[in-house]
Amino acid sequence: MGAITPTFENSYADFGWRRSIQQVKHHLQQRSDTETHMRALLDQVKIAETRMVAHNDGKPIANMDILEIGPGQGLERATYFGRNNHITGLDTDIIARGLEWQSYLQMLRTNGLGRVAKTLGREILSNRPNRAAWRKLLGVKKLNFPDAMYGNICDIVPRANHYDMVMSWSVFEHVSDPAVAIDHVLAALKPGGIFYISLHLYTCNNGHHDMRSFTGDESLPLWGHLRPDQAHLIKPSAYLNEWRLPQYRALFAEKTGGDYEEVLEKFEHPEVYGPMLKGSLREELADYSEDELLTVNAIYIGRKK
Ligand SMILES: C[S@@+](CC[C@H](N)C(=O)[O-])C[C@H]1O[C@@H](n2cnc3c(N)ncnc32)[C@H](O)[C@@H]1O
Repeated sequence: MGAITPTFENSYADFGWRRSIQQVKHHLQQRSDTETHMRALLDQVKIAETRMVAHNDGKPIANMDILEIGPGQGLERATYFGRNNHITGLDTDIIARGLEWQSYLQMLRTNGLGRVAKTLGREILSNRPNRAAWRKLLGVKKLNFPDAMYGNICDIVPRANHYDMVMSWSVFEHVSDPAVAIDHVLAALKPGGIFYISLHLYTCNNGHHDMRSFTGDESLPLWGHLRPDQAHLIKPSAYLNEWRLPQYRALFAEKTGGDYEEVLEKFEHPEVYGPMLKGSLREELADYSEDELLTVNAIYIGRKK
């Protein structure tokens, strides 16, 4: 593991004990649905893989050296692609691979007791049943965990000109400087290497990352974080750079000379949330395009020249 100073003092996310208990309750309620949930995730990962293959001249994603930025604790994508590739995970939190005690000791030193307690709780309540379902769905006895590297993509280039692919899900909305992060992604790629960056767009209904909106609480005001008179009701659970769609578009256009693909994943947003975007609410949100309000994940895919 690299000895790298983190940018965030404690951890990228901090949502207090009350919200943690709410999260635990939500995990317990969801346990009966673990397999359905993991199957849906697998479908998503396979869709991502199809897009990657298209950018790899139709060749499979195999025998590659891959860097995943911010794999978090679930490690589903890393272990999916880890079946036939070598994966390194770079994260500002210590990556706990199962119940490996060394990871927890390092997490205690780096991120504090609160983070250890939450990660251990999540490992036992959620990650273990999820991983059992994931192994079953992938048809493997054992998951290949990634090599873990501790660090911030805005501070380092993990290995220059080394990786065949750099991939990331739900991380770029948390980085302090997406332009520097992309420079480091491109520097880490070999010429011709692929980047696949999926980010949770700040301007979507739950782009504020208030933990309540991820744990079944539907009491929050719609797009509350974008509405000055409602914003006080929203409590983001993580650092967010608040970047908007035009900023990402301009950034990727600049860094790739315009040679990139953008995919806007909207899931249930157009059907469920689209019809709510009318009247005075739509007027209040007049500064935002429909794409900005209804896109959950914006995905940028391309190759280093
Ligand atoms: C919302 S979680 C996403 C985890 C996983 N990718 C997923 O989709 O389930 C964001 C992850 O990115 C990591 N992260 C945030 N900022 C980062 C940075 N600047 N460099 C590397 N990792 C970062 C966090 O520690 C966390 O594990």
